[in-house]
Amino acid sequence: MITEDSSLKRFLTSKLQRRFFLYFSGLVLMTVLFISVAVYHFQTKMLLKQVQNKAFSLTSILAYSSLNAILLDDYITIQMLIDSMSEDPNIRSIAILDTSGRVIAANQLDLRGYRYEDPLTKKALHTDIFLHQKEKNASGEEIWDTAVPIYNLDKRIGTARIKYSIEDTYKGLLRTILLIGLFAFVISLVLSFRFSASISKPIADVVKLAEEYGKGNFSASIDIPGDDELGHLARELNKLSRKLQVLVEEKIANENLIVLGEFSSYIIHDLKNPISGLHLLADGLHRKLPDDSPLKKYSTEIVLAAQKLEDFTRRTLDIARSAKLYVTAVNINELIKQVVADIKELSTPIFMNLDPELPEIQADHRMLYMAIKNLVINAHEAIENKGKITIQTIGNDHITIKVSDTGSGIPQDRLATVFRPFFSMKDSGHGLGLAMVKKVVIAHQGKINVESTEGEGTTFIIHLPITPI
Ligand SMILES: Nc1ncnc2c1ncn2[C@@H]1O[C@H](COP(=O)(O)OP(=O)(O)OP(=O)(O)O)[C@@H](O)[C@H]1O
Ligand SMILES: [Mg+2]
Repeated sequence: MITEDSSLKRFLTSKLQRRFFLYFSGLVLMTVLFISVAVYHFQTKMLLKQVQNKAFSLTSILAYSSLNAILLDDYITIQMLIDSMSEDPNIRSIAILDTSGRVIAANQLDLRGYRYEDPLTKKALHTDIFLHQKEKNASGEEIWDTAVPIYNLDKRIGTARIKYSIEDTYKGLLRTILLIGLFAFVISLVLSFRFSASISKPIADVVKLAEEYGKGNFSASIDIPGDDELGHLARELNKLSRKLQVLVEEKIANENLIVLGEFSSYIIHDLKNPISGLHLLADGLHRKLPDDSPLKKYSTEIVLAAQKLEDFTRRTLDIARSAKLYVTAVNINELIKQVVADIKELSTPIFMNLDPELPEIQADHRMLYMAIKNLVINAHEAIENKGKITIQTIGNDHITIKVSDTGSGIPQDRLATVFRPFFSMKDSGHGLGLAMVKKVVIAHQGKINVESTEGEGTTFIIHLPITPI
């Protein structure tokens, strides 16, 4: 499996992720900016309208509430009214003017007696409608300047004036938009980071996988979850790497067989005959020695060792020689029964589940007999205590033979290796049995697979054509 880097390390090393990140965060920043400007623009308009209405209603309240007090020359009440309104922090100035524009009462003491000469006041004194305008005061602050006439029946007796600041409204809005914008931007950075990682990581993993292939490590795989194209690509690449691995394994096995073939030709010439002679002589010596001879136990050992050597040489030659098939009509069910009868001394019970409709096939009886026997012996050797072996046949357009056992099973990482010559996990094994089985099956244009779960058991499945081409 391709190893994981920390997300920060990947960000710093992956050009692709940085490019994605800049692209996404730039896009989000532009969007946030655009939305903020639009919101600011429309909200300002709305808020200005609200401020305008508020300034008007405050000036109107001042005008109506101060009417009686003006008529009664009750300046204390007027002043109290103005003082209570001044508590609104946005009100910059409140004043009540007489008909000439002179200040009768105001929130700033120095305004009393002062005559308003500004254009709005001049206009307001000669009209009976409500007036207002947006302007900047001396300190550059934007304000709504409002003027409302005060009438006693039809008689104009004064004008109410309020200057209401808009600045706080602007500032409040700007602050809110900046806060929301900043929050949105930070969230967008985090999301962009994650999003760019989610796109670039699988691509980086695929690149790493390609590098591993380049180094000849076909067992490398990647894990990209999900149903999208990248997940699909990862699954296809993993399948491809498994196939490549099998091909490489097969290539190694075939090369081993070739080497074995060359090597065994030396054995044929140089070792086979001396070993046979050795075996024969040892056997003769062993027979001649009296049973009570102290040398008898050594001669027994020599005979056994010579037997083993001869057996090993013969089996190696069997695999190494190019397989020449002596094809006859073979009833596989009968062949299996024969194997089972011949090894009935094995302690493991063998069950047969044979298809009565199984057709006869064109095959080499001796070779298939050896192959099935090897599988059954392996199955028996894999069962330590109690267990069973099952042999099943199925017939249709080709025939299937399954040899299953409830033995120790084969570790997953060894499944592809068990057919290699000389691969053995047994102390006294030569690793020649399955190599021979595979050779026989291939010589019949068949296929052999193995399925195994450690601790549960193993099944070897052979498919053979009815007639090899
Ligand atoms: N049915 C099985 N259950 C578990 N492991 C198996 C089974 N068949 C084969 N193996 C494993 O595959 C290896 C190779 O088997 P193979 O028959 O080629 O060699 P061997 O049995 O070790 O030696 P040999 O058959 O030459 O005496 C075995 O050592 C064993 O670890
Ligand atoms: Mg074996």
